[in-house]
Amino acid sequence: MLPVLTYKVPPSTRACPQCRTLIQADNMGKGFYISKAVGVVAIIAGAGALATIIALSVVYSQEKAKNNDNEVSPTDGGGSTPKPPVTTPAPSNEPWDKYRLPKSLVPNHYNVTLWPRLTPDETTGLYIFTGESSVEFRCAEDTNLILIHSNKLNYTKLENGQYAMLTAVSKADAPSIKSSWLQSVTQYLVLQLNGNLMKDHTYHLSTRFTGELADDLGGFYRSEYMENNVKKVVATTQMQPTDARKAFPCFDEPAMKAVFHITLIHDRGTVALSNGEQKESSNVIIEGKDVQQTSFEPTEKMSTYLLAFIVSEFSFINNTIDDVLIRIFARTPAITAGQGQYALNKTGPILKFFENYYNSSYPLPKSDQIALPDFNAGAMENWGLITYRETALLYDEAFSSNSNKERIATIISHELAHMWFGNLVTLRWWNDLWLNEGFASYVEYLGADEAEPTWNIKDLIVLNDIHRVFAVDALTSSHPLSSKEEDIQRPEQISELFDAISYSKGASVLRMLSDFLTEEVFKMGLRTYLAEFAFGNAVYTDLWKHLQMAATANGTWLPASVNDIMNTWVLQMGFPVVTIDTKTGTISQRHFLLDPDSEVTTPSLFNYEWIVPIKWMKTEVVQEPYWLNGTKVTNEAMKATGNDWVLANLDVVGYYRVNYDDANWDKLLNVLSTNHKLIQVINRAQLVDDAFNLARAKIIPTVRALSTTKYLNVEREYMPWDSVLGNLDFFYLMFDRSEVYGPMQDYLRKQVTPLFNHYKTMTGNWETVPTGHMDQYNQVNAISLACRTGLEECQNLVKTWFAEWMNTNNNPIHPNLRSTVYCNAIAAGGAKEWEFAWSEFRNASIASEAEKLRSALSCTKQPWLLNRYLEYTLDPKLIRKQDATSTIVYVANNVIGQSLAWDFVRDRWSYIFNQYGGGSFSFSNLINGVTKRFSTDFELKQLRQFKADNAEVGFGSGTLAVDQSIERTIANMKWIAENRQNVLKWFGDEAKP
Ligand code: BES
Ligand code: ZN
Repeated sequence: MLPVLTYKVPPSTRACPQCRTLIQADNMGKGFYISKAVGVVAIIAGAGALATIIALSVVYSQEKAKNNDNEVSPTDGGGSTPKPPVTTPAPSNEPWDKYRLPKSLVPNHYNVTLWPRLTPDETTGLYIFTGESSVEFRCAEDTNLILIHSNKLNYTKLENGQYAMLTAVSKADAPSIKSSWLQSVTQYLVLQLNGNLMKDHTYHLSTRFTGELADDLGGFYRSEYMENNVKKVVATTQMQPTDARKAFPCFDEPAMKAVFHITLIHDRGTVALSNGEQKESSNVIIEGKDVQQTSFEPTEKMSTYLLAFIVSEFSFINNTIDDVLIRIFARTPAITAGQGQYALNKTGPILKFFENYYNSSYPLPKSDQIALPDFNAGAMENWGLITYRETALLYDEAFSSNSNKERIATIISHELAHMWFGNLVTLRWWNDLWLNEGFASYVEYLGADEAEPTWNIKDLIVLNDIHRVFAVDALTSSHPLSSKEEDIQRPEQISELFDAISYSKGASVLRMLSDFLTEEVFKMGLRTYLAEFAFGNAVYTDLWKHLQMAATANGTWLPASVNDIMNTWVLQMGFPVVTIDTKTGTISQRHFLLDPDSEVTTPSLFNYEWIVPIKWMKTEVVQEPYWLNGTKVTNEAMKATGNDWVLANLDVVGYYRVNYDDANWDKLLNVLSTNHKLIQVINRAQLVDDAFNLARAKIIPTVRALSTTKYLNVEREYMPWDSVLGNLDFFYLMFDRSEVYGPMQDYLRKQVTPLFNHYKTMTGNWETVPTGHMDQYNQVNAISLACRTGLEECQNLVKTWFAEWMNTNNNPIHPNLRSTVYCNAIAAGGAKEWEFAWSEFRNASIASEAEKLRSALSCTKQPWLLNRYLEYTLDPKLIRKQDATSTIVYVANNVIGQSLAWDFVRDRWSYIFNQYGGGSFSFSNLINGVTKRFSTDFELKQLRQFKADNAEVGFGSGTLAVDQSIERTIANMKWIAENRQNVLKWFGDEAKP
């Protein structure tokens, strides 16, 4: 019989048994050579599979035990179960207790063969995969230790009686393996050797292993869907940031680039995909099973987090552009229905745009994009095989809104941007993640603009990123973009970096940089940066260096070096509010804090001062840009007398807010109400957003902010309206349970009615769709706000449409309007409407339609329906795991669902955390989402209690969100206390006809 994986604790590890699951070789010291001719098939085949399945079930039950009582019981083959010590082990300084790999070994290339089973194992009921991997690496420093990442993999003994086989590629023999074990906390397979690996020699390490193909959305995992009433299973991967080690043992750090030779074994007739092009595919028999073996061309030199392996029964469509094969894969019915067509049409042009922008041809021969039924993030930039959530790739004119379409164009653009920035040139360590994600989040707008030039999509970065991130970056719990390499070690710390700061602040400051350098200079620097570091790694200052070279070559004047300017934005958290006093011409800056009483405890290298580029205009004339470098300066030009007014931060290219003296504010408000078009659209949106936020920070009175909404009866543009709605959301959150609510509704109804009528006329009584992209958005805003404020005509409209759908089974509602119509109709209705929508949700043939219904189902006013819906969120058969946390947040957005969702989350925290802990952004969204209405002392106490009660379970990627929520709750309490009376009076007065 073949060896079974055993679980022993080697003597030297007794101090920390819970840290190690062991594979201790009982047959030490004998080197064993395997001829290259012994193929993959032979290695994977045979009774080894059975042995590993047994081993896997052991691990599985241990994992369960761990989840249940937090104990690991190391079990050896004979069944003795030593108890872990009660005391916390002393921190150890052994290399395997460190999260970072030592620098001694550097991989050259890997051969990886994986065989995912798409049916559960008959005895254990588990889905598994088996694998065989070998890696050739160079020794950079003599060492007698091999550390290679490995997580939740179980190893099978090889022919040498060991769990790994080490051979020397060149010259002398390799030392034999002394002992081996799995260090589970730091996620290593550890091999201690009997002698040294020698500097500059290359070695070869092979292993055979098994893992669970779980539905956990990370590593090699499984996704399921129904097709013609038959359950289908897809094996797919999500490696970023640290889950490649869940698929095969690897040096799982972004700078450990290597070439990968991938082979997949899969059922005949299924499709196997990976980063490279298919090299060959043949039918073979392994373990008596008729299967297909597909191998792929070796990849370019790349990081492990960008690998992808997929086996499915999907179909595809394709085209070719300048020798690059472009394919879109999805469930067969989705492809048959043409849902991949939009993505296919847009990919070519976006790819061409980036080739030109980067001045570098697409580095690979093919670009596959695939829509997966279960996917945690929105999309993932695996090199040559980009994975998406279905809603992020599939488009159907009959079901998808313009917003769905925009998301597809921008997300494709974002991921394609990474093919160079991130994939070809990769940041050395995760602390620079902000540059990778921030860059892609900026240039996604440029690529999408190329794909849809009529949309003016570049403007939307102001609403989607700048305004969004201002809200969190104005809190004392914010953090700088850049982190120190040594501060980012554990996988959770890495995951936490995928936040709004990295994405949206990153995008915003890069846009500012590109603007003050000019796009030409920015591109020049970018191009030489990519050329210098292609197939290698860099740090963010390398980009600054290249941009500086470009600026210097171009003769661009700057008040300081690129590095010195950018340091003020990258190394300190937050952003400034720039105050312009037009009476005196003084310009000053200070750190903008949403709660001015909160205390900033983190010191800053730059004392919370920034080097600020200011684009501005006086009355109708655009002026020379101005650099603010210092706390307070005077610029005569900024004096404005008489009717002159000053407006700064044109198009909001700068990452800062602007405040003015009272007289200038009055003049700006006057321009809005008399001739608002004198101020460009983006800046109208800015004036509203700045005013509301300056008011929240007590820099200007709240009534001044409210006054910016008085001109709305003449405003027809999307961006200012959306900015208002975003800010009113805060008013709704704070006041929808109070006496302010009534007068506020009356005032807003009055303001939105002209807009509602405008679109009613434009669309011939709602018969047609506005032509402009922004107009389509604003039509939705008009209907949403009109219905929300109780405009009867609106409510009747949505109820009639929904009833017609229910009665005729023919949906008359335009896809753009569905989200808001469904929500309002379900809110106005009862169980009948809810059940109808639920059954439509369950039967939807495209994910974007399901998405609209899933969100609308949270709009009901019936507590029992909301509670039942909350229960559904934790049943993956009803709501996919990927959607659980966002559904809970939807319920919390509903004033009636708020407390139900909060009770639900705190009651089940430990379960939610353990089951859904893989989420990247989702945990911070969940915590922020269920607490954002918090504004009472009682709620604050509950929140603190929640933090204390769950200190042991933890909050994962939501850790920061707990503190942000506490900070926000305190600020909300104060804000309400100070503003309630004024606001009540203002709405009351203004609501009068
Ligand atoms: N690299 C990310 C995907 C990712 C996110 C992996 C978090 C691991 C953890 C990808 O490039 C990305 O940023 N996706 C975004 C979409 C984008 C348009 C902002 C996403 O998934 O939402
Ligand atoms: Zn990204």
